[in-house]
Amino acid sequence: MKKNKVVIVGTGMVGMSYAYSMVNQGTCEELVLIDLDKKRAEGEAIDLNHGLSFAPRKMNIYAGDYSDCKDAYLICITAGAIQLEGETRLDLLHKNTKIMKSIVNEIKKSGFDGIILVAANPVDIMTYVCWKLSGYDKSKVIGSGTTLDSARLMYTLGERLDVNPKDINAYVIGEHGDSQFVAWSYALCGVQPIYQIASRKDSKIRFEDLEKIEDEVRNIAYKIIECKKSTYYGIGMALTRITKAILENENSVLTVSSYLNGEYGHDDVYIAVPSIVNENGVREVIHLPLDNEEKEKLDKSVEIMKENINKLDI
Ligand code: 2OP
Repeated sequence: MKKNKVVIVGTGMVGMSYAYSMVNQGTCEELVLIDLDKKRAEGEAIDLNHGLSFAPRKMNIYAGDYSDCKDAYLICITAGAIQLEGETRLDLLHKNTKIMKSIVNEIKKSGFDGIILVAANPVDIMTYVCWKLSGYDKSKVIGSGTTLDSARLMYTLGERLDVNPKDINAYVIGEHGDSQFVAWSYALCGVQPIYQIASRKDSKIRFEDLEKIEDEVRNIAYKIIECKKSTYYGIGMALTRITKAILENENSVLTVSSYLNGEYGHDDVYIAVPSIVNENGVREVIHLPLDNEEKEKLDKSVEIMKENINKLDI
């Protein structure tokens, strides 16, 4: 297996924003683009190669096919139908399950033995489908989860507090979708709890703003879709962040979609919770003691995931 080889399945806007971000950050050495539309993948590879003299490292980028998965370290699945205006991510369930089945089939045939990162929506369920059909270890099949939603939250809080978003440690957990929520009891600005900041009279954020911020983060993808049909730069960068944590064995805490095996009182489901990510995939699911309200919200999110999984023939 080549530690620095990444395969992207799907060269639509999400796949290519991920690729573009990886090239700009020099995240891997070998990058393979796979798409049903081979010509498109070829054109994208040529276009990216033309930027290599401006990139931080030398890379080998080319359009390939599933045989290229054999010695790859990571495959990122971005292929799938996209959310149209008026649709929720869950509305993509059946269409994308069908697509996921055919992709997993091809990946298995290739002899691949690395880590799969799923980005197709509804991502928590697609990750479950991918894990179930592939038979791979649960720690090696990961979904992008709420990594992007957490980044959206960090950005929004950073703006409000006039603090670098990198210094905000706050997490969106649960479904990457309408039932997600913020674990406010663990949200920090630097070393200060957001709850403590919100309780100060002169603060830039008050308690009554927290729900509004949470709603804004939850619904912002709908606004982007209304404005420009789809979202891709943010998710592309979130996928790059997860990829870097894996390839560089970072042991970073990210809200990826992880398999629960008793944590939070749930099992046999993928859902976004803070997890430690390294070269083996998800090293550990962090089991936060949530307050009652947060626990109820997570239970609800898990229930929605399970209800939808039960509708599938997998
Ligand atoms: C996003 O949150 C639509 O899942 C996509 O940007």
